[in-house]
Amino acid sequence: MTHFHVNGRRYAAKPTAGQCLRTFLRDLDVFGVKKGCDAGDCGACTVHIDGQPFHSCLVPAFRGEGREITTIEGLATNGELHPMQKAFHDAQAFQCGYCTAGMIMTAVTLTDAQKTDLPHALKGNLCRCTGYRSINDALLGRCNIEPDEAGKALGASLPNPFTDAIVTGKARYTMDLAIEGLLHLKVLRSPHAHARIVSIDRSAALAVPGVVAVYAWEDVPKRLFSSALHEDHLVDPDDIMLLDNVARFVGQRVAAVVAETEAAAEAGCRALHVEYEILPTVFDPVLAVQPGAPLLHDKDLVTASNNIFCTLQGEIGDVAKGFKEADVLHEQTYSTTRVQHVHLETHGSIAWKGEDDRWHIRTSSQAPFAARQKLAYIMGIPPRDLHVFTERVGGGFGGKQELVSEDLVLFATMKLGRPVKWEWSREEEFIGATTRHQMTTRVKIGARKDGTLTALDVEVFSNTGAYGGHGGETLAAAMASPIAAYRCANKKGIGHAVYTNMTPGGGFRGYGASQTTFAVECAIDELARLLDIDPFEMRRKNVVRPGDNIESIWKEPNDASFGSYGIGECLDIVERELQKGNGVTKPEGAEWAEGQGVALAMLECGPPTEHRSGAEMRLLPDGTYHLACGSTEMGNGIITAHKQIAASMLGTRVDDIDIINADTDRTPYDTGTFASTGVVVGGKAVHLAAQAMSDDIINFASRYAGVAIDQCRLDNDGVICGNQRISLRELHAEGAKVDHRFSVSRRAYLSPRTIAFNVQGVRLAVHRVTGEIRVLHSVHAADIGRPINPMQCRGQLDGAVAMGYGWALVENMVHDDEGHMVNPQLRNCRIPTFADTPHTDIFFADTIDLIGPLGAKSQGECGINPVAPAVSNALANATGVRFAHLPFTPDRLFAKLAAAK
Ligand code: FES
Ligand code: FES
Repeated sequence: MTHFHVNGRRYAAKPTAGQCLRTFLRDLDVFGVKKGCDAGDCGACTVHIDGQPFHSCLVPAFRGEGREITTIEGLATNGELHPMQKAFHDAQAFQCGYCTAGMIMTAVTLTDAQKTDLPHALKGNLCRCTGYRSINDALLGRCNIEPDEAGKALGASLPNPFTDAIVTGKARYTMDLAIEGLLHLKVLRSPHAHARIVSIDRSAALAVPGVVAVYAWEDVPKRLFSSALHEDHLVDPDDIMLLDNVARFVGQRVAAVVAETEAAAEAGCRALHVEYEILPTVFDPVLAVQPGAPLLHDKDLVTASNNIFCTLQGEIGDVAKGFKEADVLHEQTYSTTRVQHVHLETHGSIAWKGEDDRWHIRTSSQAPFAARQKLAYIMGIPPRDLHVFTERVGGGFGGKQELVSEDLVLFATMKLGRPVKWEWSREEEFIGATTRHQMTTRVKIGARKDGTLTALDVEVFSNTGAYGGHGGETLAAAMASPIAAYRCANKKGIGHAVYTNMTPGGGFRGYGASQTTFAVECAIDELARLLDIDPFEMRRKNVVRPGDNIESIWKEPNDASFGSYGIGECLDIVERELQKGNGVTKPEGAEWAEGQGVALAMLECGPPTEHRSGAEMRLLPDGTYHLACGSTEMGNGIITAHKQIAASMLGTRVDDIDIINADTDRTPYDTGTFASTGVVVGGKAVHLAAQAMSDDIINFASRYAGVAIDQCRLDNDGVICGNQRISLRELHAEGAKVDHRFSVSRRAYLSPRTIAFNVQGVRLAVHRVTGEIRVLHSVHAADIGRPINPMQCRGQLDGAVAMGYGWALVENMVHDDEGHMVNPQLRNCRIPTFADTPHTDIFFADTIDLIGPLGAKSQGECGINPVAPAVSNALANATGVRFAHLPFTPDRLFAKLAAAK
């Protein structure tokens, strides 16, 4: 036995052979040490060894023996936060908080000199949520929070209620659980893009010490389902099985091994011998629809021909006539890449059988209720036998609107009667999880000399990959708001979602609209250039206005409606700020060209399919409130927003409302937290429940005090009735005597759907020879209705814009000719670091939405959409060359600029 000193405590423990310090510390239940990659790329696992920061996943555990190891849990002394923890607290330098422990551990070791160069000093720590602005604020000692005062919750920048837990490492994420008798599951993934499994020899795997079971397609329920989670399961094709006898992409799970340790499960996977019959492949959606292309699925899963899963088309007006009326035409094909969500917390779940004889699943999911429905269907058991819930979720961005781990852990735990855990690796995220859909969009657009659009024709090929979850819905989104954003009497569109042997597409922030926004916004700019009209004016002239039908390519009535309208103000703000400038000049030298670009985005707040949320409120004996809502908190700030909505309705302090969320046993039903529904549906349910609670209290108080109801009003922790004040404690006690429980529950549905707008402006410099881009000025204006929590809304937009820059400039999943991803590591498939993320000035239009709760609407989704086209427009302005294919990496820029020269 060896001895380790961790956070001042002595542990007698022996690392296993080859074990890294990260997993060793977590085996000691030191859960503040996180995993984002296990490869030294993300910094989530940063700890101090004798005062120096190390990525603990790169340190062999035995090297920690006899050294002083400090983790985030050991930073605070005598209950006092370390000044850096306090700085992260005051700046609210996190969203999901998964990176925070590692970020703080690095930050506390920085010298003053290093703090002057944070892009360099923090290069080893990634954050996917914040865009690094609030982290920068923390290091500069800025305070972004306001006091929590009764009656002033709405519009206040209040801190996340779990702030202390996050900055001290006490917040528990999905995998932060020690559980007796836990088994570990790992899967063998297909090395082939298309292959039939002829046989699987399990004997060697079963002989690996610690391996308990091996499951393959013969063992699992033969029920087809979709991993996508929606309210209406019919919008996604049932084309997946728990384990299948055909692999349709490289990375598809082939067999599951369950073992006493993770290492044994991995060794079991390596020992499996699988015989494959290789099948023909197709990766390009355009080729996949050609006659004779290999078919991915049985004929009854495709709707039209070959691999087309879904076609959407329509026309309003007469597009041919519209083009004849045009003075100028522009036609071009634009394409966007598949990218990964890279939520720092990977997918994972833990399942066990409870003393109540039910199955409990703790999961990193954006939609635990929808997951429960689907799990019940797959396993053929009633949903009431399942309890699905989240702890803190370390980011989602749409990637956790999928059932990708819960099904196998539940299956294994039901078979084995023991708890089973499955935590994905970063490589699995890249090759086995869903991605943004790659789309290729041809746009033809015409206008009169004065800039009035006469016709718009859009054709989209969406590569849905091997499975069709979200394929139809993202295509519908692609064909909707980006086209509806402009007034034009003649519009036409056709879009196909096509099966190929690529990693499946899925939901991703911006959800399909990002891809066509890129194409349409570039095309609008090209028209403006042809007509010599200012790009801002071109947009002002043609963008939809209140009173217009919000019309894409379909004549059917639509429930989208202007609850508020701030696009004009957003355009004005961005134009004003770019004109004003920020004093940053382009680098010296004739090779540097400078340009400016703008793009807008419009998004319906919420999916067109039915979406439901419920909220429950109770008054507690001590006069505080309990709120239960089914929405998932994953860094979107939804529990803070829900508490603020409730507090503002009840005239109380946010701190007096305790909240639970996302738990199928303990909270009301919620379809899932995606597509902006956390505020517009979940928030509405909270609004209604808090209003009902307020009515209930005032009614009761009026009867109790014998004072007319119109003379009674809530006042923080009491009710003023005429000239007397009754405390909520007293009211609760009086209620208990007559069995009045002060408990209310309300539901909200999503219709009508309001509209959010975002405008991005970019001024940049591009080096004509090297292709390097430097963003000189980045401005973003958002019409999100009333910001419930301005600091949090700014943070969401910071993160969305940073993700937009990542998509435009940095991120690139590269696949070879056989469908293998060649760069499935964060160091090779990069996401923006601190240094890659330009500072963006964020502004809000001054609007109050008439549809969303308390005037709010979508706050964190749409900000990503105008970024890539604004960058492309700025590049075109700088160089005269249109970059129509993402990403704009230096090598691609260099090649195109050289060709243009
Ligand atoms: S988990 Fe260690 S650097 Fe990512
Ligand atoms: S807050 Fe940094 S990864 Fe979520």
